[in-house]
Amino acid sequence: MTLQPIAVPDLIKDLPLSSDAETLVDFSNDQIEAFMLADQTIIENFVTCDFHLVAQALRWLQQEHLVAGNRFCEWGCGIGVVTMLAALQGMEAVGIEIEPRLVDLSTEIAQSKNVDAKFYCDSFVPRHSSKVSDLAAEVANVVTDEGEVYEEIGLAIEDFDLFFAFPWPGEHHFFEAVFDDHASEGSLLLTYRGREGMNLVRKI
Ligand SMILES: C[S@@+](CC[C@H](N)C(=O)[O-])C[C@H]1O[C@@H](n2cnc3c(N)ncnc32)[C@H](O)[C@@H]1O
Repeated sequence: MTLQPIAVPDLIKDLPLSSDAETLVDFSNDQIEAFMLADQTIIENFVTCDFHLVAQALRWLQQEHLVAGNRFCEWGCGIGVVTMLAALQGMEAVGIEIEPRLVDLSTEIAQSKNVDAKFYCDSFVPRHSSKVSDLAAEVANVVTDEGEVYEEIGLAIEDFDLFFAFPWPGEHHFFEAVFDDHASEGSLLLTYRGREGMNLVRKI
C-alpha cells in the first residue's frame, strides 16, 4: 500500500468556523486551563493542537468532498475537542485516549455542550500490528501497547474514513505505520504538525 500526500492549502486559514465550533473551542480552552491548574499530576504526553486550524481543515475536507464516508476517529484524543468538532460537522465521531482523566473530561464537555461524540479509554494501536514493534523504539510519547478498543467501539479500524492525530515532533511515522497497516484503502489520515501546520495522506 502507498500513502498519497494531499496538499492542504494555506487558504483554509480564511475559512470561517460555525458558531457552534467557535463556542466549543473557546469553552474547551477554558476547561483545559482549569484542568491544568487543578490537577497536580502532569500528563506528560498531553499537549493540545491548534483547534481553530484543525476545525478549518475539517471544514475544508468536507467542502472539497475529500472524505469517502462519514466515520471519524481521533487517535490519542486528549480532551476530545477535534472529535467533537468532527461530530459538529455531522460525522459519526469517536475519540480514543489512554489517560482516563482526559476521557472523563472529554465526556463531560461533550455532555455539557450536547455534542454527539463518543470517547473510549484504551490504546488506539490495534492488535496484530506488524510494523509497530519495529517502530516502538523510535517513539517516546506514544504508548505502543496494543488495545482492544475497536471491539468495544463495535467497528473495525477499516470502517473509519478519516483519522486525526497530533503526533509529537518526529513521531508521525508511527501513526502513519498503523494507518498504512490497518486502515482501508481510500481513507485519510490528517495530522497536525505544529509549526508545519496540517498534513494529509490518503491510503491508496
Ligand atoms: C499530543 S496529545 C494530542 C491530544 C489531542 N489529539 C489534541 O490534538 O489536542 C497526544 C495524546 O495521545 C495520548 N496517547 C498516547 N499514546 C496513546 C495510545 N496508544 N492510545 C491512545 N492515546 C494515546 C496521550 O495521552 C495524549 O493525550
